[in-house]
Amino acid sequence: MKIIMLGAPGAGKGTQAKMIAEKYHLPHVSTGDIFRANLKEGTELGKKAKEYMDKGALVPDELTVEILLDRVAKDDCKNGYVLDGFPRTIPQAEVLDKELEKLGDKVDLAIDVEVPDENIVRRMSGRRACLKCGATYHIEHIPPKQEGICDNCGEPLVQRDDDKPETVQKRLTVYHDQTAPLIDYYTKKNILKTVDGTQDMEAVFADIVKLVG
Ligand code: AP5
Ligand code: MG
Repeated sequence: MKIIMLGAPGAGKGTQAKMIAEKYHLPHVSTGDIFRANLKEGTELGKKAKEYMDKGALVPDELTVEILLDRVAKDDCKNGYVLDGFPRTIPQAEVLDKELEKLGDKVDLAIDVEVPDENIVRRMSGRRACLKCGATYHIEHIPPKQEGICDNCGEPLVQRDDDKPETVQKRLTVYHDQTAPLIDYYTKKNILKTVDGTQDMEAVFADIVKLVG
């Protein structure tokens, strides 16, 4: 099963993708997490990606596509995956489709987690992230058991550099210009399903499970 998570920054793609990955035993592949892990390790890729991420801009397609294709070629992706944050542009979606086609394969489902822009900025300011395992918390809605510490791996939690309100606004604009057209793209392929992302995370997940089956 190959699932794509669509939605604005902060819609809950990562939160839901992790729950799907666990329930259906699929790897969770997040390009944002890959970039942040590289940044933490101080790699060239991480440094390059940071220039764009800190501005709320997209990392160029050439760079992103290569990383994603490398990741999904790994053994653990043989039986499918949940993509979170990829594709984010029409050209990225087209490359993915072409590569899958070569293997006689295709994307099965694109899930759009819908949350209005007004809710997003509020969510982002409360988000805390673990840069080691990619877990995400919210200081009010989804707090860690111990304040400031990741439940899974004990690392200190951080606020992402790109979660400042002005950067979030920029990411929203970029989302509407470059990523939202994917809703149409997958609707035309008859694989788009929408869930109401303003519900609490368990209710959103229950809706997703109904779609995935
Ligand atoms: P990326 O890491 O993908 O960021 P994003 O799309 O902006 O999405 P977020 O991770 O911010 O939000 P999310 O939808 O995962 O929400 P979350 O579950 O955390 O990308 C970062 C940057 O990398 C991009 O800006 C770009 O520069 C670059 N990049 C990445 N992929 C790229 C690509 N393909 N091409 C080019 N550039 C790329 O939830 C948000 C918060 O809300 C959390 O605090 C969470 O706990 C809380 N929450 C979640 N669900 C609920 C709920 N139901 N109710 C209440 N709170 C909730
Ligand atoms: Mg995310």
